[in-house]
Amino acid sequence: MYTSPAQATDRKPWTVPMLADAKRDGRRLAMLTAYDAGFALAMDRAGIDLVLVGDSLGMVAQGRDSTLPVSVDDIAYHTECAARGLSTALLLSDLPFQADATPRRALDAATRFLQAGAAMAKLEGAAAHKLDAIRFLTEREVPVCAHLGLTPQSVLRLGGFKVQGRDDRAAARLREDARAVQDAGASLLVLECVPSALAAAITAELRIPTIGIGAGPHCDGQVLVLHDVLGLDSGHRRPKFVKDFLADGGSVEGAFRAYAAAVRDGSFPDAAHSYE
Ligand code: KIV
Repeated sequence: MYTSPAQATDRKPWTVPMLADAKRDGRRLAMLTAYDAGFALAMDRAGIDLVLVGDSLGMVAQGRDSTLPVSVDDIAYHTECAARGLSTALLLSDLPFQADATPRRALDAATRFLQAGAAMAKLEGAAAHKLDAIRFLTEREVPVCAHLGLTPQSVLRLGGFKVQGRDDRAAARLREDARAVQDAGASLLVLECVPSALAAAITAELRIPTIGIGAGPHCDGQVLVLHDVLGLDSGHRRPKFVKDFLADGGSVEGAFRAYAAAVRDGSFPDAAHSYE
Protein backbone atom coordinates (compact mmCIF):
# COMPACT_ATOMS: atom_id res chain seq x y z
CA MET A 1 0.00 0.00 0.00
CA TYR A 2 1.14 3.56 -0.64
CA THR A 3 2.01 5.08 2.73
CA SER A 4 5.04 7.33 2.40
CA PRO A 5 5.55 10.67 0.71
CA ALA A 6 8.45 11.33 -1.66
CA GLN A 7 11.75 10.05 -0.28
CA ALA A 8 15.23 11.49 -0.44
CA THR A 9 17.57 10.16 -3.14
CA ASP A 10 21.10 11.12 -4.10
CA ARG A 11 19.88 12.46 -7.47
CA LYS A 12 19.77 16.21 -7.87
CA PRO A 13 16.19 17.51 -8.24
CA TRP A 14 15.46 18.75 -11.74
CA THR A 15 15.04 22.47 -12.31
CA VAL A 16 13.91 24.30 -15.44
CA PRO A 17 17.41 25.69 -16.31
CA MET A 18 18.78 22.11 -16.18
CA LEU A 19 16.71 21.31 -19.29
CA ALA A 20 18.89 23.55 -21.43
CA ASP A 21 22.00 21.98 -19.85
CA ALA A 22 20.67 18.52 -20.75
CA LYS A 23 20.28 19.57 -24.39
CA ARG A 24 23.76 21.06 -24.49
CA ASP A 25 25.26 17.92 -22.89
CA GLY A 26 23.30 15.54 -25.14
CA ARG A 27 21.56 13.96 -22.15
CA ARG A 28 18.29 12.39 -23.29
CA LEU A 29 15.21 13.06 -21.18
CA ALA A 30 12.72 10.40 -20.07
CA MET A 31 9.22 11.71 -19.41
CA LEU A 32 5.95 9.96 -18.49
CA THR A 33 2.47 11.10 -17.57
CA ALA A 34 1.11 10.53 -14.05
CA TYR A 35 -2.08 11.55 -12.36
CA ASP A 36 -1.56 10.47 -8.73
CA ALA A 37 1.05 10.22 -5.98
CA GLY A 38 1.58 6.44 -6.13
CA PHE A 39 2.61 6.26 -9.78
CA ALA A 40 4.53 9.55 -9.50
CA LEU A 41 6.54 8.09 -6.60
CA ALA A 42 7.36 4.94 -8.61
CA MET A 43 8.49 7.14 -11.52
CA ASP A 44 10.63 9.28 -9.24
CA ARG A 45 12.29 6.18 -7.77
CA ALA A 46 12.84 4.79 -11.26
CA GLY A 47 14.73 7.93 -12.31
CA ILE A 48 12.14 9.39 -14.67
CA ASP A 49 13.26 12.98 -15.34
CA LEU A 50 9.98 14.71 -16.15
CA VAL A 51 6.42 13.90 -15.08
CA LEU A 52 3.44 15.40 -16.87
CA VAL A 53 -0.07 15.70 -15.51
CA GLY A 54 -1.48 15.56 -19.02
CA ASP A 55 -5.01 16.21 -20.12
CA SER A 56 -4.77 12.63 -21.47
CA LEU A 57 -6.29 12.22 -18.00
CA GLY A 58 -9.65 12.65 -19.75
CA MET A 59 -9.09 9.64 -22.00
CA VAL A 60 -7.17 7.21 -19.78
CA ALA A 61 -8.61 7.95 -16.33
CA GLN A 62 -11.99 9.59 -16.92
CA GLY A 63 -12.97 7.27 -19.79
CA ARG A 64 -13.77 9.99 -22.30
CA ASP A 65 -13.26 10.01 -26.09
CA SER A 66 -11.14 13.16 -26.17
CA THR A 67 -9.28 15.55 -23.88
CA LEU A 68 -11.80 18.37 -24.44
CA PRO A 69 -13.93 17.87 -21.29
CA VAL A 70 -10.93 18.07 -18.90
CA SER A 71 -11.14 21.10 -16.62
CA VAL A 72 -8.65 23.34 -14.83
CA ASP A 73 -9.99 21.95 -11.53
CA ASP A 74 -9.23 18.40 -12.71
CA ILE A 75 -5.63 19.24 -13.63
CA ALA A 76 -5.10 21.25 -10.42
CA TYR A 77 -6.35 18.34 -8.29
CA HIS A 78 -4.22 15.73 -10.07
CA THR A 79 -1.18 18.05 -10.01
CA GLU A 80 -1.49 18.28 -6.24
CA CYS A 81 -1.71 14.48 -6.00
CA ALA A 82 1.22 13.77 -8.35
CA ALA A 83 3.40 16.44 -6.69
CA ARG A 84 3.21 14.56 -3.38
CA GLY A 85 4.99 11.59 -4.98
CA LEU A 86 7.93 13.51 -6.42
CA SER A 87 11.24 14.58 -4.99
CA THR A 88 13.56 14.76 -8.02
CA ALA A 89 11.49 14.68 -11.23
CA LEU A 90 10.26 17.97 -12.68
CA LEU A 91 6.46 18.23 -12.72
CA LEU A 92 4.57 19.77 -15.65
CA SER A 93 0.83 20.32 -15.95
CA ASP A 94 -1.32 20.68 -19.04
CA LEU A 95 -3.45 23.75 -19.65
CA PRO A 96 -6.69 22.01 -20.66
CA PHE A 97 -8.96 22.97 -23.56
CA GLN A 98 -9.57 26.75 -23.71
CA ALA A 99 -7.65 27.42 -20.49
CA ASP A 100 -5.19 29.25 -22.78
CA ALA A 101 -7.85 31.02 -24.89
CA THR A 102 -6.57 34.31 -23.44
CA PRO A 103 -3.25 35.05 -21.75
CA ARG A 104 -5.07 36.06 -18.57
CA ARG A 105 -6.95 32.76 -18.37
CA ALA A 106 -3.70 30.90 -19.02
CA LEU A 107 -1.98 32.77 -16.20
CA ASP A 108 -4.83 32.06 -13.75
CA ALA A 109 -4.79 28.33 -14.54
CA ALA A 110 -0.99 28.04 -14.62
CA THR A 111 -0.70 29.87 -11.29
CA ARG A 112 -2.96 27.24 -9.72
CA PHE A 113 -0.80 24.46 -11.17
CA LEU A 114 2.45 26.02 -9.93
CA GLN A 115 0.91 26.55 -6.50
CA ALA A 116 -0.10 22.87 -6.55
CA GLY A 117 3.51 21.82 -7.16
CA ALA A 118 4.13 21.97 -10.93
CA ALA A 119 7.22 23.73 -12.29
CA MET A 120 5.94 24.30 -15.83
CA ALA A 121 2.67 24.68 -17.70
CA LYS A 122 2.22 22.98 -21.08
CA LEU A 123 0.08 24.39 -23.85
CA GLU A 124 -0.80 23.18 -27.34
CA GLY A 125 -0.36 25.05 -30.62
CA ALA A 126 1.34 28.14 -32.03
CA ALA A 127 -1.57 30.34 -33.18
CA ALA A 128 -1.07 34.04 -32.45
CA HIS A 129 -3.01 33.92 -29.17
CA LYS A 130 -1.01 30.87 -28.05
CA LEU A 131 2.26 32.72 -28.68
CA ASP A 132 0.83 35.67 -26.73
CA ALA A 133 -0.01 33.28 -23.88
CA ILE A 134 3.53 31.82 -23.91
CA ARG A 135 5.03 35.33 -23.74
CA PHE A 136 2.56 36.44 -21.06
CA LEU A 137 3.32 33.41 -18.88
CA THR A 138 7.10 33.44 -19.24
CA GLU A 139 7.24 37.21 -18.54
CA ARG A 140 5.36 36.42 -15.31
CA GLU A 141 7.68 33.66 -14.09
CA VAL A 142 5.70 30.70 -15.41
CA PRO A 143 8.00 28.37 -17.37
CA VAL A 144 6.25 26.96 -20.44
CA CYS A 145 6.40 23.73 -22.39
CA ALA A 146 4.92 24.02 -25.89
CA HIS A 147 3.26 21.14 -27.77
CA LEU A 148 3.11 20.90 -31.60
CA GLY A 149 2.32 18.32 -34.28
CA LEU A 150 -0.76 16.34 -33.32
CA THR A 151 -2.36 18.58 -30.71
CA PRO A 152 -5.23 16.51 -29.25
CA GLN A 153 -7.22 19.62 -28.27
CA SER A 154 -7.54 20.30 -32.05
CA VAL A 155 -9.16 16.90 -32.70
CA LEU A 156 -12.39 18.40 -34.06
CA ARG A 157 -10.56 20.59 -36.62
CA LEU A 158 -8.11 17.81 -37.53
CA GLY A 159 -10.88 15.21 -37.89
CA GLY A 160 -9.13 12.65 -35.71
CA PHE A 161 -5.81 11.76 -34.11
CA LYS A 162 -3.57 11.80 -37.22
CA VAL A 163 0.12 12.14 -38.04
CA GLN A 164 0.97 15.79 -38.82
CA GLY A 165 3.57 17.50 -41.05
CA ARG A 166 3.62 14.86 -43.77
CA ASP A 167 3.70 17.16 -46.84
CA ASP A 168 6.32 19.85 -47.53
CA ARG A 169 4.01 22.75 -46.75
CA ALA A 170 2.83 21.31 -43.43
CA ALA A 171 6.41 20.38 -42.51
CA ALA A 172 7.67 23.93 -43.24
CA ARG A 173 4.82 25.35 -41.16
CA LEU A 174 5.68 23.08 -38.24
CA ARG A 175 9.33 24.16 -38.38
CA GLU A 176 8.25 27.82 -38.32
CA ASP A 177 5.89 27.15 -35.41
CA ALA A 178 8.68 25.42 -33.48
CA ARG A 179 10.93 28.46 -33.86
CA ALA A 180 8.05 30.74 -32.90
CA VAL A 181 7.27 28.96 -29.61
CA GLN A 182 10.96 28.99 -28.72
CA ASP A 183 11.20 32.70 -29.53
CA ALA A 184 8.07 33.38 -27.46
CA GLY A 185 9.86 31.90 -24.43
CA ALA A 186 9.04 28.17 -24.24
CA SER A 187 11.71 26.11 -22.44
CA LEU A 188 10.66 22.73 -23.80
CA LEU A 189 8.71 21.45 -26.82
CA VAL A 190 6.65 18.26 -27.11
CA LEU A 191 6.38 16.99 -30.71
CA GLU A 192 3.53 14.53 -31.15
CA CYS A 193 2.97 12.25 -34.16
CA VAL A 194 5.29 13.79 -36.73
CA PRO A 195 7.61 12.02 -39.20
CA SER A 196 11.02 11.18 -37.72
CA ALA A 197 13.00 13.27 -40.23
CA LEU A 198 10.93 16.37 -39.51
CA ALA A 199 11.32 15.94 -35.74
CA ALA A 200 15.07 15.47 -36.25
CA ALA A 201 15.28 18.71 -38.26
CA ILE A 202 13.33 20.67 -35.63
CA THR A 203 15.45 19.20 -32.83
CA ALA A 204 18.64 20.26 -34.62
CA GLU A 205 17.32 23.79 -35.22
CA LEU A 206 16.18 24.59 -31.68
CA ARG A 207 18.09 25.59 -28.54
CA ILE A 208 15.38 24.11 -26.31
CA PRO A 209 14.95 20.33 -25.86
CA THR A 210 12.32 18.49 -27.88
CA ILE A 211 10.36 15.63 -26.34
CA GLY A 212 8.90 13.21 -28.87
CA ILE A 213 5.81 11.03 -28.75
CA GLY A 214 5.44 9.27 -32.07
CA ALA A 215 8.16 11.61 -33.40
CA GLY A 216 11.01 9.17 -33.93
CA PRO A 217 14.35 8.56 -32.23
CA HIS A 218 16.08 11.91 -32.83
CA CYS A 219 14.28 14.11 -30.29
CA ASP A 220 16.10 15.18 -27.13
CA GLY A 221 13.73 13.06 -25.03
CA GLN A 222 10.58 10.97 -25.14
CA VAL A 223 7.22 10.90 -23.40
CA LEU A 224 4.60 8.16 -23.12
CA VAL A 225 1.27 8.03 -21.35
CA LEU A 226 1.34 5.98 -18.11
CA HIS A 227 -1.28 3.48 -19.27
CA ASP A 228 0.56 2.88 -22.55
CA VAL A 229 3.95 2.19 -20.94
CA LEU A 230 2.22 -0.44 -18.76
CA GLY A 231 0.32 -2.02 -21.66
CA LEU A 232 -3.08 -1.09 -20.20
CA ASP A 233 -5.85 -0.96 -22.74
CA SER A 234 -7.86 2.15 -21.98
CA GLY A 235 -10.39 1.36 -24.72
CA HIS A 236 -8.84 3.50 -27.46
CA ARG A 237 -6.98 2.43 -30.63
CA ARG A 238 -3.31 1.76 -29.76
CA PRO A 239 -1.08 4.11 -31.74
CA LYS A 240 2.03 2.73 -33.44
CA PHE A 241 4.43 4.58 -31.12
CA VAL A 242 3.15 2.92 -27.94
CA LYS A 243 5.27 0.23 -26.25
CA ASP A 244 4.46 -1.94 -23.25
CA PHE A 245 7.52 -1.99 -20.95
CA LEU A 246 5.87 -4.01 -18.17
CA ALA A 247 6.66 -7.44 -19.65
CA ASP A 248 10.42 -6.73 -19.72
CA GLY A 249 10.44 -4.55 -16.60
CA GLY A 250 8.82 -7.20 -14.37
CA SER A 251 7.10 -4.66 -12.10
CA VAL A 252 5.60 -1.20 -12.42
CA GLU A 253 8.78 0.49 -11.18
CA GLY A 254 10.82 -1.91 -13.33
CA ALA A 255 8.79 -0.89 -16.38
CA PHE A 256 9.54 2.79 -15.71
CA ARG A 257 13.26 1.95 -15.29
CA ALA A 258 13.28 -0.09 -18.52
CA TYR A 259 11.58 2.78 -20.36
CA ALA A 260 14.05 5.37 -19.00
CA ALA A 261 17.00 3.14 -19.93
CA ALA A 262 15.66 2.59 -23.46
CA VAL A 263 15.12 6.34 -23.95
CA ARG A 264 18.61 7.13 -22.68
CA ASP A 265 20.41 4.49 -24.74
CA GLY A 266 18.41 5.42 -27.84
CA SER A 267 16.80 1.98 -28.33
CA PHE A 268 13.29 3.47 -27.88
CA PRO A 269 11.68 4.50 -30.08
CA ASP A 270 12.92 2.35 -32.97
CA ALA A 271 11.59 2.42 -36.54
CA ALA A 272 8.70 0.11 -35.60
CA HIS A 273 7.46 2.76 -33.14
CA SER A 274 8.01 5.80 -35.41
CA TYR A 275 6.47 7.36 -38.53
CA GLU A 276 8.31 7.85 -41.83
O1 KIV B 1 -1.91 14.93 -22.28
C1 KIV B 1 -0.88 14.27 -22.41
O2 KIV B 1 -0.67 13.22 -21.81
C2 KIV B 1 0.12 14.77 -23.34
C3 KIV B 1 1.27 13.88 -23.68
C4 KIV B 1 0.82 12.78 -24.53
C5 KIV B 1 2.40 14.61 -24.27
O3 KIV B 1 0.01 15.87 -23.82
